[in-house]
Amino acid sequence: MFQRIGVIGAGAMGRGIAQLFASSGQQVLIYDTRVEAIHDAIKFNSDLLQRSVAKGKLSEAEFTATVARMQPATTLEALKDCDLIIEAIVEILEVKQNLFRDLEALVSSDCLLATNTSSLSVTRIAAGCQRPERVAGFHFFNPVPLMKIVEVVRGSRTEERYIDGLVQLAEQAGHFAVITPDTPGFLVNHAGRAFGTEALRMLSEGVATPQQIDRILRDGPGFRMGPFELFDLTGLDVSHAVMESVYEQFYHDPRYTPSFIAAQRVAAGLLGRKTGQGFYRYDNGQKIEAAEPAPAEVLINRPFWLDSQDAQVRSQVSAVLSAAGATLEQGNQPSAEAICLVTPQGEDCTQLAARLGLPAAQTLALDTFASWDKRRTLMRNPASSADTVAQARQALAADGVPVEIINDSPGFVIQRLIASVVNLGCEIVQKGITDADSIDRAIQLALGYPKGPLAFGEHYGKERIFTVLHNLQAVYGEPRYRPSPWLRRRVQLDLPLNTPDSQE
Ligand code: NAI
Repeated sequence: MFQRIGVIGAGAMGRGIAQLFASSGQQVLIYDTRVEAIHDAIKFNSDLLQRSVAKGKLSEAEFTATVARMQPATTLEALKDCDLIIEAIVEILEVKQNLFRDLEALVSSDCLLATNTSSLSVTRIAAGCQRPERVAGFHFFNPVPLMKIVEVVRGSRTEERYIDGLVQLAEQAGHFAVITPDTPGFLVNHAGRAFGTEALRMLSEGVATPQQIDRILRDGPGFRMGPFELFDLTGLDVSHAVMESVYEQFYHDPRYTPSFIAAQRVAAGLLGRKTGQGFYRYDNGQKIEAAEPAPAEVLINRPFWLDSQDAQVRSQVSAVLSAAGATLEQGNQPSAEAICLVTPQGEDCTQLAARLGLPAAQTLALDTFASWDKRRTLMRNPASSADTVAQARQALAADGVPVEIINDSPGFVIQRLIASVVNLGCEIVQKGITDADSIDRAIQLALGYPKGPLAFGEHYGKERIFTVLHNLQAVYGEPRYRPSPWLRRRVQLDLPLNTPDSQE
């Protein structure tokens, strides 16, 4: 195990890494080209630790010992006896390569050189070294002590014993270490692409407003924050740069296509909380919440017809309609004046109305992926009449559950976003970027999702996810939505999504 750890770069990440390992008992030397940054980092960490003392989570003795384990290094030479060096300096390839080259001239031949890079190739950083086999990625998340996950990135030439060493070190500090090969975005920044890019795609098609998309995704799948709230928190400049970087590195695979909307908003400085305006407005850092629209009351005087034969869907719809004083027709075909509710999976309202031969003006789609008790989604097609929309919106909200009205979209909001998350998760496992047992835990810890991609697939039903993707691909005619072979095989063979490729 490592006795002496050098941390280079005393910014947001470096100071967190220093605190994590000082807390777990390692001697840590902190170096930065700006000496004041070193002292600021030690002060920042000791203030944080002091708060733990005040809360009774840390004893005075532990506090003193932990702070004593973080020492400033005012020159690079002071790190020469370290057996592990973790760099968290600027994200520029040449600067990192030069640093590692300088370090190789100083440290022992066995000293492990780790990089906290989030977007550069570990292999390329290592390529500038004499001994690339001792270079690995050690990618933490901000804030380091609280985000209990780290990616241990295996460069193309990294020796396994160094990977083992980093995993062991992370685990004894209480972090979940997930090993990934050196692929664009590693695991987490790769898996996280579906959430934001699909939301921007919907926005670009005028499916719904950012506020609607956020509300639907919070109340349906249970994300703590919607994608647009998350963009505002992270800063759209940061998120857009990651989207572009992953897209470029995967040679323009359409799954990762960034959005012109993000590019323009970055140019305009609409970055989110840090500039006071993003997809939301902020006053002193507080989001200004706009009230949800309250539609005018209408008279409900038409019957409803539902395409679904699913007993649960029918009884839920029937109950809310009767609370509204409306009836649900039971026939195979709707009556002439009926409001027709269809329940597509990955098709849009237009497509399903046409396929079923229904009158488009009277037809709306109801999302069966939404949480029935929290927020319902009704989707109109371009021909849906205003009266149809108004009566359906009011009738379906008769028990007090809010109803969002969105424009036509293959897969509403939830279906296409969740299907994209599941599909990308499957693709990541298919590519061996991580294994089926680790992906969900890693994503929950790093991204705070209520479920990992594979668990989401099982929750909504892998067959349904597959159908959504299949239909999305057919409606759009785009390879963006092509189902991952990992998903297709497990659907066709009716195996759990976490079934490995080999049963050996
Ligand atoms: P930061 O800007 O807060 O800190 C960087 C520090 O490195 C500064 O104090 C700077 O003076 C120092 N520095 C720059 N060049 C140096 C050199 N050649 N030698 C020594 N010190 C040098 O940056 P932050 O956010 O801590 O990021 C550092 C690294 O961690 C980057 O590679 C970044 O991509 C990565 N990262 C950042 C995350 C974040 O959320 N901020 C998350 C995960 C990784």
